Amino acid sequence: MKFIEVETYAELSRLGADIIAEVIKSKDNPVLGLATGSSPVGIYENLVKKNKAGLLDFSKVVSVNLDEYLGLDGDHEQSYRYFMNDNLFNHVNIDKANTYVPNGKAEDIVAECEAYDKRLQDFGGSDIQLLGIGLDGHIGFNEPDDCFTAQTHVVELDPSTIEANARFFESKDMVPRKAVTMGMAGIMQSKKILIIANGAAKRDILMTAMYGKITPEVPASILQLHPDVTVIYSKN
Ligand code: F6R
Repeated sequence: MKFIEVETYAELSRLGADIIAEVIKSKDNPVLGLATGSSPVGIYENLVKKNKAGLLDFSKVVSVNLDEYLGLDGDHEQSYRYFMNDNLFNHVNIDKANTYVPNGKAEDIVAECEAYDKRLQDFGGSDIQLLGIGLDGHIGFNEPDDCFTAQTHVVELDPSTIEANARFFESKDMVPRKAVTMGMAGIMQSKKILIIANGAAKRDILMTAMYGKITPEVPASILQLHPDVTVIYSKN
């Protein structure tokens, strides 16, 4: 594992975007595993800048997102599909037909999860998986549990996650209680993992996950078993 500590969120974002840009440039048909939340916003800004400057082509890029709230339409402002369109896809030359976010409104959610995993497998996993980390150690919406779940599945959000994500909604009551998330097999089959965390509040959980016991109680700890992980932590 490569652990990079930088001073500022701006540095984290530049470095993270450079790593993803290298992967895009090195593949004919790059497959990106993408995340939402506040942590990757700066990386997406830098990727958009590179694209606008003519330095990075997204025309062959396929993306597969980690998760989506259950019950939110893609045009709901707090849905992760909306977030991805708004922060990245609307601003680069990616073909939206090649961007995948779980459908939180699928009539048959089990079939949706199975199809999501099948597609990821057909791609041979992603070339790089971008991850944030929750204060409870979650990755995607794989919450602390007594076992790791391999497949894409529906989860009940942890009270601490609902609390943390309430900042994006009008009130805590509006935060969906359930989500669909890629499972650990989907994440771990990525060829490269880039996990980012900013702010002192994330430091303890990041250290526990990266250097503590590997346990489903700290879902991100499974990444210790992956052969190619880069962590970028910024203090601010
Ligand atoms: C988002 C996701 C989550 C976030 C995590 C950290 O797609 O999968 O695991 O990465 O909740 O969120 P932020 O970056 O908002 O602190």
